Amino acid sequence: MTGKFITLEGIEGVGKSTGMDFLRRRLQARGIDALTTREPGGTPLAEAIRSLVVEAGEETMPALCETLLMFAARAAHLANRIRPALGAGRWVLCDRFSDATYAYQGGGRGIPAERIRALHDWVHAGLDPDLTLLLDAPVAVGLARASERGGNRASDRFERERQEFFERVRAVYLDIARAEPARVCVIDAGRPQPEVQAALGAAVDRLLA
Ligand code: TMP
Repeated sequence: MTGKFITLEGIEGVGKSTGMDFLRRRLQARGIDALTTREPGGTPLAEAIRSLVVEAGEETMPALCETLLMFAARAAHLANRIRPALGAGRWVLCDRFSDATYAYQGGGRGIPAERIRALHDWVHAGLDPDLTLLLDAPVAVGLARASERGGNRASDRFERERQEFFERVRAVYLDIARAEPARVCVIDAGRPQPEVQAALGAAVDRLLA
């Protein structure tokens, strides 16, 4: 069987890390040793770009610069990790991908969607996820969970944003899901963990069927 490409998306605090862990184990239980990776990042070069774009620095980062860095990291990740794995028949499970750029840089920062679409087409025309799992919860719920988890750790450039920013991010994610229902499966992440995991597992099993 050829490898499938699965991505996991959502705003901060919706349980993506737990979801990734669950999905990896679920696939393993089905005999699939998926490559798990993340964006921005996933290769040494892309992780170096991640540090630039996520960590807060002295200088203001224009939204255009942020958008281009997301796609620069993605180009390295695709060439050096994702495409080779899929080409070898391996499944790939990725924590965030281009939907996050439409949501964060498009919705959050106001970069026009058609600009992002042009970069999307340039960097990975013809290679989109087979399945995207969107963990969705009200922004207040996600942010409360994220701040509990954050403890005393310094917040990154995105975590410093206000609720309105994440409302715009969430709205774009939900728009994408409405526009592409065959690819994007919305999972209500406000429910108890066992129910969220049952929904994640069912979506993956449909892909296997
Ligand atoms: P993470 O905390 O889920 O690993 O992601 C790091 C941050 O990067 C997160 O706040 C969302 C942001 N991000 C974007 O703004 N655009 C993108 O395209 C991606 C992949 C992530």
